[in-house]
Amino acid sequence: MKILVTGGTGFIGSHTVVELLENNYEVVIVDDFSNSKKEVLDNIKKITNKSFSFYKGNVKDEEMLSLVFEKENIDAVIHFAGFKAIGESVDNPLMYYENNIDTTISLCKVMDKYNCHKLIFSSTATVYDVNDELPLKEDFPKGTTNPYSSTKLMIERILKDLYVSNNDWSIVVLRYFNPIGAHESGLIGENPQGIPNNLMPYILKVAIGELECLTVFGNDYDTKDGTGVRDYIHVVDLAKGHIKAIDYLTNKGIDYFNLGTGVGYSVLDIVNTFESVNGIKINYKIGKRRSGDIAEYYADSSKAEKLLGFKVTKTIEDMCKDSYNYILKNK
Ligand code: UFG
Repeated sequence: MKILVTGGTGFIGSHTVVELLENNYEVVIVDDFSNSKKEVLDNIKKITNKSFSFYKGNVKDEEMLSLVFEKENIDAVIHFAGFKAIGESVDNPLMYYENNIDTTISLCKVMDKYNCHKLIFSSTATVYDVNDELPLKEDFPKGTTNPYSSTKLMIERILKDLYVSNNDWSIVVLRYFNPIGAHESGLIGENPQGIPNNLMPYILKVAIGELECLTVFGNDYDTKDGTGVRDYIHVVDLAKGHIKAIDYLTNKGIDYFNLGTGVGYSVLDIVNTFESVNGIKINYKIGKRRSGDIAEYYADSSKAEKLLGFKVTKTIEDMCKDSYNYILKNK
């Protein structure tokens, strides 16, 4: 089976490509390196010792995509390509709406033209309107607080309309909780340019001395220690969830799955675990709440367990250890 992976050199994309190759899928990657480096391609080869096809380009480019479909016999698509920084999306909403939505529309048009109707779409836990009820289930109310999340929710709705218009489509929407960690080889992982927005990349920069001190965004939330609680999932477990979802594409329709661990950890839990498994001190100070942040949320992933056979195997200790291993090899 041949799978097209858009955004296949990104953080989740690259780990998913590794799992696909290790499970003997044929892989075609389309990426424009807008938030990744071409070395990732060599590192995927080093890890798997397998070959794959690669096309440099933006998924919005229907001509380029058509060429890919013309040359390769694509059976299914996993669509990761898109912008993903919440803060940036607040500053540049049009850029986010244009890029994330246009790429998906172009992709679906070209897929339909080549009679390929199996699609796995990367969505996010931030499509939920988090109120008091936890853990979050797939049918809970939706509501977004920033343009990035709105693009994901809009795309979910576009895909639903697409299925209603043509029942040949098989679409699986995966809602990710907070992916951290890295491949155990240390060859692929997450190393954003500039000052990181997210917790683990920030901790890593403090760990290697590139940044002085982590600011914990608020310790007055109504959580176990006052700091924000999230459902962190190892990126390799998340990648494996995509392999399970491919089998589910034999069902026509559109379906939605949370991919998380079901366990919430606070910011201080992460800092403490990182320090103890890696034997290193992380300087931190308590700062103000970050605007738009929610106190606590975590997944009910029982639907993915039951219908996809999804199961996490990695602990929070593994996540902290593998993240540190990656940054030490990629300083
Ligand atoms: N945090 C800090 N200090 C930092 C960074 C984060 O205290 O420097 C805290 C946050 O306040 C929050 C927790 O760490 O309580 C996690 O924050 P992240 O920025 O790592 O992650 P978010 O939960 O805000 O959102 C992330 C991604 C989104 C994605 C979402 C769900 O940023 O793109 O997970 O997948 F949609």
